[in-house]
Amino acid sequence: MGLLESSDSLRQEHSEILRLTENFTDALALAGSDDFTARQRGLTELRTLRPALVGISRHCCCDAGLVDPSYRPYVNDEKFGQMDTQHKVIHRLVQSFLRELLYATADSIQEAAPLGEELAGQIREHIAYEEELLDSIEELCAVTT
Ligand SMILES: [Fe+2]
Ligand SMILES: [Fe+2]
Repeated sequence: MGLLESSDSLRQEHSEILRLTENFTDALALAGSDDFTARQRGLTELRTLRPALVGISRHCCCDAGLVDPSYRPYVNDEKFGQMDTQHKVIHRLVQSFLRELLYATADSIQEAAPLGEELAGQIREHIAYEEELLDSIEELCAVTT
């Protein structure tokens, strides 16, 4: 697969991650509610989203795209380092949130909502950052090919 084709598939992966993050945020809003029934629904939805969170965490562990060696020459060390740091932060937050989910009840989940919000914020920031990197990689490719 060429560099530009694989950047297309990365962008698709990113929009899927953003869509899941949207669902995650909706579930968090319910989980943070003062209404018990809403919190119960929120907790159920968050548990349903567990595989999605694991998937996002995997993206961060071994980001199949930007960590691809063919991208490396187009990303300077500082930018690469920042991306790597973001991956580690997201990975850690996902692990913490999954741990919270494990023992959460419809009452205690309210306390985990801010951690979830922090995670959602980091994911959105990271995806925006990687999209910017992809823009600049594509520009460089257009110039050099
Ligand atoms: Fe990433
Ligand atoms: Fe990515």
